[in-house]
Amino acid sequence: MTRLETLFLTIFLLSFCSTNFDLSSALEFKEAPKFYNSPNCVNNDQTVHIAMTLDATYLRGSMAAILSIVHHSTCPDNLRFHFISVSSTATSRDLNRTIATSFPYLTYYMYSLDDANVAGLISTSIRSSLDCPLNYARNYLAALLPERVKRVVYLDNDVVLVDDIGKLAATSLGETAVLAAPEYCNANFRTYFTPSFWANPALSMTFEGRKACYFNTGVMVIDLERWRNGDYTTKITEWMELQKRMRIYELGSLPPFLLVFAGKIAPVDHRWNQHGLGGDNFRGLCRDLHPGPVSLLHWSGKGKPWARLDAKRPCPLDSLWAPYDLLQTPFLLDS
Ligand SMILES: *[C@@H]1O[C@H](CO)[C@@H](O)[C@H](O)[C@H]1NC(C)=O
Repeated sequence: MTRLETLFLTIFLLSFCSTNFDLSSALEFKEAPKFYNSPNCVNNDQTVHIAMTLDATYLRGSMAAILSIVHHSTCPDNLRFHFISVSSTATSRDLNRTIATSFPYLTYYMYSLDDANVAGLISTSIRSSLDCPLNYARNYLAALLPERVKRVVYLDNDVVLVDDIGKLAATSLGETAVLAAPEYCNANFRTYFTPSFWANPALSMTFEGRKACYFNTGVMVIDLERWRNGDYTTKITEWMELQKRMRIYELGSLPPFLLVFAGKIAPVDHRWNQHGLGGDNFRGLCRDLHPGPVSLLHWSGKGKPWARLDAKRPCPLDSLWAPYDLLQTPFLLDS
């Protein structure tokens, strides 16, 4: 791409991703109750760090996710939230006001992503919502969060937890894994990369000797110390640079993670990613839960529960999201 093309793409991405959105006039959220450490909170000194992105489009999802996390935590006082938003001051001020008002007892920190710089690295994919710079924030956690944070749980905005996040945070990374994520070895791994990637031995060789499986980057436990020591942000960025020169994959921020980490991660129990509940907006498909226990519900896919509830066309499982909705005038199911 020429420099001019990159500039236009950057402007397009930044405008599409609703970086500037007047939250104060758009959405009003209720105040969440205060939650206290339960008598079962034995690891009293164990801090759990959680990283999430915040933006205007998914704010309602983020608010519900946060509420679900503190509500089900055994030690809510030990939680530390790290919120990443885009670098517009007006936007981060509005987002901060929303969080501070609805969660007056929450301990959190705000960071801004250098979104113009990240947008320059992104090549457009088939699903434009995946091209927003904030979708790539998970690449930069090691640099954004302070050095004292050694381990972080990264979560998408379209999740609801119904279990203690302390258990997820305690996932074993073994001797060497940099991150843990829910792995799906039955998924067709090849489809995440283009035929020209597989046809090029110099590239496809990267997976040689690795038992590479697809994994979901919306629920990850990351050892930030190992990440920093291995400079994995640079490794991911290098694949993104290559992608701009020749198309090696289609779908947003996931493939560079697969290129660097697939086959080398620690598994997260699938109970922490009951995924696909978003289904497909266009065909109005509603998904059911996968067999097995449920600790985290993930509305991955095109449909989002708040949008379907507002449209009065909810899927059955959207009723599990609704209790965490903090919007001031929530949609009433039978009104
Ligand atoms: C967020 O808002 C709170 C409450 O108004 C304030 O104390 C805090 O300094 C703000 N933080 C940032 C990063 O702006």
